[in-house]
Amino acid sequence: MAVNSFREDEKINATDAKKITVRLLRYLKEYTGLIIVVFIAMFLTIGISIVNPLLIERAVDVHVANADYEGLFKLAAVALVINIAFVFLVKLRMYVMSYISNKIILRIRDEVYEHIQTLSFTYFDSRPTGKILARIMGDVNSLRDVFSRAVTSLIPNILTVITVLVIMFVKNWRLSLASLAALPFMVVGAFWVQKTNHSRWQLHRKKVSNLSAYTHENIAGMRVVQSLNAEDETRAQFNELAKDQCNTFIWCCRVADLYSPLADTSWALGMMCMYLVGVKFLGPSTITLGLLMAFANYVGMFWDPVIQLSGFLNQFVTNLSAAERVFDVLDTEAEIKDAPDAADLPPVEGRVTFDNVSFTYDVGTENETKVLDNVSFAVEPGETIALVGPTGAGKTTIVNLISRFYDIQSGTIAIDGYDLKKVKINSLRKQMGVMTQDNFIFHGTVRDNIAYGKLDATDEEIIAAAKAVNAHDFIMKMEKGYDTELKEQGAGLSIGQRQLIAFARTMVSQPRVLILDEATSSIDTHTEIMVQKGIEALLAGRTSFVIAHRLSTIQNADRIFVINDGGIAEAGSPKELMAKRGAYYKLYMAQFESLAG
Ligand SMILES: Nc1ncnc2c1ncn2[C@@H]1O[C@H](COP(=O)(O)OP(=O)(O)OP(=O)(O)O)[C@@H](O)[C@H]1O
Ligand SMILES: [Mg+2]
Repeated sequence: MAVNSFREDEKINATDAKKITVRLLRYLKEYTGLIIVVFIAMFLTIGISIVNPLLIERAVDVHVANADYEGLFKLAAVALVINIAFVFLVKLRMYVMSYISNKIILRIRDEVYEHIQTLSFTYFDSRPTGKILARIMGDVNSLRDVFSRAVTSLIPNILTVITVLVIMFVKNWRLSLASLAALPFMVVGAFWVQKTNHSRWQLHRKKVSNLSAYTHENIAGMRVVQSLNAEDETRAQFNELAKDQCNTFIWCCRVADLYSPLADTSWALGMMCMYLVGVKFLGPSTITLGLLMAFANYVGMFWDPVIQLSGFLNQFVTNLSAAERVFDVLDTEAEIKDAPDAADLPPVEGRVTFDNVSFTYDVGTENETKVLDNVSFAVEPGETIALVGPTGAGKTTIVNLISRFYDIQSGTIAIDGYDLKKVKINSLRKQMGVMTQDNFIFHGTVRDNIAYGKLDATDEEIIAAAKAVNAHDFIMKMEKGYDTELKEQGAGLSIGQRQLIAFARTMVSQPRVLILDEATSSIDTHTEIMVQKGIEALLAGRTSFVIAHRLSTIQNADRIFVINDGGIAEAGSPKELMAKRGAYYKLYMAQFESLAG
């Protein structure tokens, strides 16, 4: 297993920070009313914090200087009231904002999930599940901060900084200049940190995604890992990827943590300069003691948001790379989608035709694999076709094309004469029943799993389907019958039982065209008979393509297609092919001998 395949970092286009931000802000639109509330609360809080130092100045210069204790007391009472209001307003602002941002996250997560469901097989072929998971979970989560902080932190902080600056200069320009002495130093530093930071965090996200992909795959394949005794090896590989992630994180922190010392130093320098100038010019007509005290407050009020802002920018930059990845998913177009003028496929009889069909996987990449070359055939309604042939010949590919999971490069595939490319995909797949080699069992009851084939199926329909495929008896023997909870991936069920449940699921949907990609796994004779009966019930009365490894299934087929070398090497009824003594005959004899021997 190559750990390096998980190391491949997904490519992400250069950040267009502005575009991403605008796109994020668009999500706020539907909350305009609440945002106005947030803004009102915000203006009030900023107002209160600006007034506070003025109260101090007045207290010192007017009331304390004149020993006016009654006035001082009244002033204190006013300060108390407005500051209680302040606390309340801040809390309100934060609550409303986290409400809004969580709602938006929910919406984006839904959007991403919904969109991923529309993507084609090719998308999933080319990325590990873990990486997709990382985007739906981690990356979307990081967006929450963008929203709540943009409004609770970014805007109020910018407004505060501007207002404080104006007041400072109105009150005294000398003190103002002195206290801003270190600002240029800070701006240049912050700019550099931000630039460096972005690329580092971007890399970190990729490492997290790689780790997530590896972890997901190995936990999903834990049974194989344990049975191959590969624990030490996978652990070492996991450790390598985790170390990668850890080191990148530390590397990011090296720059990210430069913000606060930078800002703190600038603040301290500013304070120092302000006191130096203040003490030098102290006097009743220029700088009063109250003014100096008020200024000390204003300097704090100026630097505090600046520090928060830089911290925020830091976070914002990190989260932008998350947003970028989320939007990257949302912007991925499904390769297979309805043509603009696609019509619903009417209920079909099930005549399937291939007309000069050629198909290649991964066209234009280094993995290009030509699988079908000018294949033509016609299958009549109700026929059962067995597809046989060596592994990798293209049997699964052919049946995937009938459901239009991939698009062909040339030729036409049609059902009842309707070209697949001209009908709505949903209306096509609704009439198809596809059973793959892995018989996916979902977490839920037996009933849920069967009803998956037809979500509005009644209990009667479910039981009838289960009876038809011979699954009813074993289901009734289970602890709670149809209400028995199945574990993920069907753990706790035998292969044969899993197959029977999958048969029932397909049966309940009553497809017109049935596709059965049979599992190669050998099952005992008793189950074999059970499964065989189930298959017969499924095949009756519908066009079926069965990729069969079992001779019993093959022999019952109306026709057999032997797939080899990019096409159909041989076709005909089992009897004809046996008489012909060609490719099928050899295959048959080989299997027969291996059974006998
Ligand atoms: N998703 C894919 N992307 C790229 N190549 C693929 C993909 N799926 C299959 N192939 C390639 O296409 C060829 C045909 O594969 P296919 O799965 O159709 O074979 P098969 O006849 O079903 O084999 P088996 O009997 O082992 O199931 C193989 O060479 C395989 O490597
Ligand atoms: Mg196959």
